[in-house]
Amino acid sequence: MSSSEIRQKFLEFFKNKGHAIVPSSSLIPDDPSVLLTTAGMQQFKRYYTGELDALKDFGSQRTASCQKCFRTSDIEEVGDQTHLTFFEMLGNFSFGPVGSDNPEDFSKDGYFKRSSIYWAYEFVSQILEINPARIEVSVFKGDEEIPFDKESYKIWHEEIGIPKEKIIFGNRADNFWGPTGDEGPCGPCTEIYVDGVEIWNLVFNEYYKEKGGEYRKVEKPGVDTGMGLERLTAVLQGVDDVFQTDIFESLVLKIKESIPSHDRIVRILADHLRASVFLIADGVRPSNKEAGYILRRLLRRILAYQLKYDIHADLFTESMEIIKEKFEKIYPEVKETKIILKVLEEERLKFQEAVGRGIKEIEKYKEITGAVAFYLYETFGLPFELIKELASEEAVKNLLKEDFDKEFEKHQEISRAGAEKKFGGHGLVLDTGELKAANEEEAKKVVRLHTATHLLHWALRRVLGGEVRQMGSDINAERLRFDFSFNRKMTPEEIKETEDLVNQKIKEDLSVNFKEMPKKEAEKTGALSFFKAKYPETVKIYYIGENLENAFSKEFCGGPHVGRTSEIGGFKILKEEASSAGVRRIRAVVES
Ligand code: SER
Repeated sequence: MSSSEIRQKFLEFFKNKGHAIVPSSSLIPDDPSVLLTTAGMQQFKRYYTGELDALKDFGSQRTASCQKCFRTSDIEEVGDQTHLTFFEMLGNFSFGPVGSDNPEDFSKDGYFKRSSIYWAYEFVSQILEINPARIEVSVFKGDEEIPFDKESYKIWHEEIGIPKEKIIFGNRADNFWGPTGDEGPCGPCTEIYVDGVEIWNLVFNEYYKEKGGEYRKVEKPGVDTGMGLERLTAVLQGVDDVFQTDIFESLVLKIKESIPSHDRIVRILADHLRASVFLIADGVRPSNKEAGYILRRLLRRILAYQLKYDIHADLFTESMEIIKEKFEKIYPEVKETKIILKVLEEERLKFQEAVGRGIKEIEKYKEITGAVAFYLYETFGLPFELIKELASEEAVKNLLKEDFDKEFEKHQEISRAGAEKKFGGHGLVLDTGELKAANEEEAKKVVRLHTATHLLHWALRRVLGGEVRQMGSDINAERLRFDFSFNRKMTPEEIKETEDLVNQKIKEDLSVNFKEMPKKEAEKTGALSFFKAKYPETVKIYYIGENLENAFSKEFCGGPHVGRTSEIGGFKILKEEASSAGVRRIRAVVES
């Protein structure tokens, strides 16, 4: 069975059981507690908590998806036969309230353990035609905090008839899932194994883990299942190497033409090339922090191998075409190979420069410790793997990833402490991720800066052209900081013109309003959205001008904003500088 058939059969199966099929969300999550989307349930977090209503947004309390995921937890293992950074996850979800939980009930109601387990077993044994003799399952055995998952055990054993010796009792580490980030839905899980390989994880979200660490039983338990497509495909295609499945076959063959005798590196390149394509397609750009840093690590590792094995750049162009062909039908965003190649090329130029200087620096050290490695990373942007790759074997023989990570953490703690100090240790009055204020007075200022940010975005597009897009925004009581895509320094005249346009609109004393509507409708209004951010099904559009139709500024935005532009006061751009490749950054203030 081919990987596309598997995807299709999975979605069809659950559609027939009352599930709404929801497209994959972006790899950039709508959840500030994680850097990248790591699981299918992530886009649904707020349906589990009851903040959003699945029946309203999807027409059913049941959904199914094939989700793009990225996990860094296994990055060190990539190169073996099973580990990947980017992967696809098939999943079915239920948000409750639990209806009959009868597997014959194909309504739109929520369901729980019985239906999930019956359907998973039916899909595996009947649709995928896996012989039940190959199947084992695991259930949560319980501990001091969370009890034994007796229900799942009974369903598997007494109802489905899985013999006792094929049921594994797992502990917290293996059979309890979530939350993603520091709080959220979580619960015991039951897994399905085929020939000893775990293929499907069924999580029963009966709990909500609070930020403080406490588990609270939820009113409407939910279901969140996840099945890695690559691994499942390997099982069904009878290979024990995900790189031998039809998902990777042509890509691996192509890379092998350039590096015939290094299987491990071929696999790393196949994984990293594919993952980079998907990250870039979702709007991630290489940088020294967060998701951008993850992408930079992947790209620089690719580039290091290019140097080391003297790989021709054509390999990248050809690989992009292969990846595009394989995935564009499901993920049309990967069609943009030109942009992807451009990002890679820009990174190559930077990398050359960094490597040039970095190599000289590396050579100075007889021994590279964790601290030295961190210094090399911070100063020259050389990722850990690359330092290992480029230094002499002797110099890195005692270098451990943990030591580097410890240095990294120390550094982060210092910056966190700095941030806390800045906010005086008080709880924030306003904190939307983008807007931060410690008290009422600051909040007022921040709101003025926020509306000024919308005006700035509009003005930049007027002055520099419609290709300019918001790439990031951060606002505190002192200033706004706005990142946007543009590939050169702005001239003083352009800066002045932008500033004047904003001040002009402030003077006009225009009203600022919002309208709430379904996302689909909102997209049609031409409102600007924050590149690939994932929005809920119902969104707000803030607009400045008489009405939504003829407003000059319209953006997908959660607010808050001032009521009239005159409240902003005077607007001044303090600085325009490079932020990362192809991205400029403006800092600006408002004056009363
Ligand atoms: N969230 C669970 C996982 O990622 C099940 O989907 O395994």
